[in-house]
Amino acid sequence: MKIYFAPMEGVTGYIFRNAYSGIYGHIDKFFAPFIAPSESSPMTPRERKDITPENNKGINLVPQILTCRSDHFIDAAKELQSMGYREINFNLGCPSGTVCAKGKGAGFLPETSALQRFLDDICSYSESSGIKISVKTRLGYYDPEEFYDLIDIFNAFPISELIVHPRIRSDFYKGDTRKEYYAYALEHSKIPLVYNGNIFTCEDYDELLITFGKLDTIMLGRGLISDPSLADKLKGFGSETDLKKFRRLHDTLYNEYQKVMSPDINVLYKMRELWSYWQTLFDGKERDIKRLLKAKKYADYEDIVYRLLP
Ligand SMILES: Cc1cc2nc3c(=O)[nH]c(=O)nc-3n(C[C@H](O)[C@H](O)[C@H](O)COP(=O)(O)O)c2cc1C
Repeated sequence: MKIYFAPMEGVTGYIFRNAYSGIYGHIDKFFAPFIAPSESSPMTPRERKDITPENNKGINLVPQILTCRSDHFIDAAKELQSMGYREINFNLGCPSGTVCAKGKGAGFLPETSALQRFLDDICSYSESSGIKISVKTRLGYYDPEEFYDLIDIFNAFPISELIVHPRIRSDFYKGDTRKEYYAYALEHSKIPLVYNGNIFTCEDYDELLITFGKLDTIMLGRGLISDPSLADKLKGFGSETDLKKFRRLHDTLYNEYQKVMSPDINVLYKMRELWSYWQTLFDGKERDIKRLLKAKKYADYEDIVYRLLP
């Protein structure tokens, strides 16, 4: 089984990826949060800093592009290729209102003719330049039945992998995934598939395996943030969450964010966001977690954290 770390804007940036991969293993590929190229530039200085190879040493990283303009995609792809990247992921899943309103992310899915032209352009570039293009998609924008046409469209192009998050745009990240459509993909996709969505525990994975019969490659997002040992567990390296390793992850992140962020409250916002995922590891400690999620000073924050993680 292969495990991919999902891109999560604001969460899985280079500091997180380095901290995680220095402590945990068993991730076959990390996907970087999206780069959104514009007319004036293929990427912002912040986006460049996130994916520059010197900030991602030893990490098998796939950059992701979010756009509906093939010329912008190709400009960014050229730049990424010059940095040494050999695969680029194309985002067709982002459900955000501002992104979709511009016809990008999931907002590109209903524009099937434009999407075909776009894929034609970027796949021609992929073939002439030798860079692989993978796609991360939802089932559709308005209706999951859009997926039947989308699969036919994707099948017509030399896409290296198709990561399917079986939800439509209006599902955002809530509720059950629509597994019957992933089952359809398993039957009809000519492209190697990756399943993404709602795998939080080994039991969730086992259930999917029963539903689908096989599941070679999965992508984990929130489940892997919430329990950083999840990939170890799924690959059979231990069955418990190792709190010593978790403390190392916490301390590394806390120190590294302090080096690059100010004022203190911004570091705490970042850590509090992570704790909104990590709280599931601390059953019975709800009062401490509630205080932690409101901490405004390092001293208060550290007092609670080091009580939870002696
Ligand atoms: C805070 C947040 C940021 C995300 N950023 C991205 C992104 O930059 N690119 C992308 O393709 N998906 C993004 N996603 C979607 C995730 O990659 C993933 O598809 C989604 O969380 C479902 O998988 P999960 O149930 O394993 O978390 C984001 C999701 C969240 C919650």
